[in-house]
Amino acid sequence: MIVGVPIEIKNNENRVAITPAGVVELVKNNHVVLIQKGAGENSGFTDDEFVSAGAKILPTIEEIYASAEMIVKVKEPIAEEYGLIRKGQLVFTYFHFASSEPLTHAMLKSEAICLAYETVESADRSLPLLIPMSEVAGRMAIQEGAKYLEKPLKGKGVLLGGVPGVPPGKVLVLGGGIVGTQAAKMAAGLGAKVVIMDISLPRLRVLNDIMPANVVTILSNEYNIKNAIKTADLIVGAVLIPGAKAPNLITRDMLKLMRPGTVVVDVAVDQGGCIETCKPTTHEDPIFIIDDVVHYCVANMPGAVPYTSTLALTNATLPYVLQLANKGWKNACAENAALKRGLNVIAGKVVYQGVADAWNLPMSKIEDFFN
Ligand SMILES: NC(=O)c1ccc[n+]([C@@H]2O[C@H](COP(=O)([O-])OP(=O)(O)OC[C@H]3O[C@@H](n4cnc5c(N)ncnc54)[C@H](O)[C@@H]3O)[C@@H](O)[C@H]2O)c1
Repeated sequence: MIVGVPIEIKNNENRVAITPAGVVELVKNNHVVLIQKGAGENSGFTDDEFVSAGAKILPTIEEIYASAEMIVKVKEPIAEEYGLIRKGQLVFTYFHFASSEPLTHAMLKSEAICLAYETVESADRSLPLLIPMSEVAGRMAIQEGAKYLEKPLKGKGVLLGGVPGVPPGKVLVLGGGIVGTQAAKMAAGLGAKVVIMDISLPRLRVLNDIMPANVVTILSNEYNIKNAIKTADLIVGAVLIPGAKAPNLITRDMLKLMRPGTVVVDVAVDQGGCIETCKPTTHEDPIFIIDDVVHYCVANMPGAVPYTSTLALTNATLPYVLQLANKGWKNACAENAALKRGLNVIAGKVVYQGVADAWNLPMSKIEDFFN
């Protein structure tokens, strides 16, 4: 199969969908890999490295889309790319169709096959192509939070680890899933006093078993949250209710309970945030202050660390890319139920219920495409 990897042209997106290691695997399986010139630069991979791995470099995005049978990307196509996608072409990337009606209509019109990273779903209902980015964001939440706790960056002026004779800072993590677990581990590693709250007792039991002694688990409820925010230096929002807006666990009124210079990093901002006053920010202008509380609400945190994020993402995507290239999308999806759940749009038809519901579109039977 001819696999094409364009440059990501969405604002501030520095990742690339394949690494030289991935190219080696594809070429070993007799596939042709076309990489747009400079596509790997912001993630630390040169064109020469891709060529040494066996890829061909093409100068323009138009040539990549025109030649490839499968396009592998990171972010959803943006308006400039809509017209480049061809009938019958397989596009494997994050789409997030439910948040963009124009994208949904453009992909329907293209008659391409759209396989979305975010809905590839394993039998245990986990989302293998979302987990790596949650791991990055969770770990980064502490790095960013620690930074904005510094006085010149508007924080309280607290060093999370403390020093001999001075107690460490206090970190409250709301939600003990992937993001929350990684955040708690990083904060604990710095020596902070960490509290993780979750509504799931089974999850708290697991966390209690695996976390070091400076991490305490507490059931998430309004009473416990109100108490904890009075003394927390850094609060990480990491809750998720699948398919729904994140609940407002910290309301505007509750900000007054916090001490000036407290930092909140609301990682859940992409689902509306779990702190009422959070609204999405960007890496250019990541924070704002309300009632003396520093809010960090960047919606694409992994974009700031493309070296790490590209490797983390491609470690997870490559096995699926190989299956798709080796077998074609139909056979690969027929043999792998997790991959089949990634199919959102096939040849002008919506085949994923969430997308049909989001834009009130007719839902087609996926099985019709497999007979
Ligand atoms: N901003 C970014 O760049 C970025 C990057 C990756 C992920 N995220 C987002 O981070 C959020 C968390 O993702 P995840 O992968 O950790 O999800 P997850 O499903 O692994 O974990 C969510 C946890 O929240 C808990 N929860 C639900 N309601 C709660 C409540 N009221 N109080 C406390 N805990 C509650 C759940 O029990 C679960 O353990 C998602 O919204 C995700 O989209 C954002």
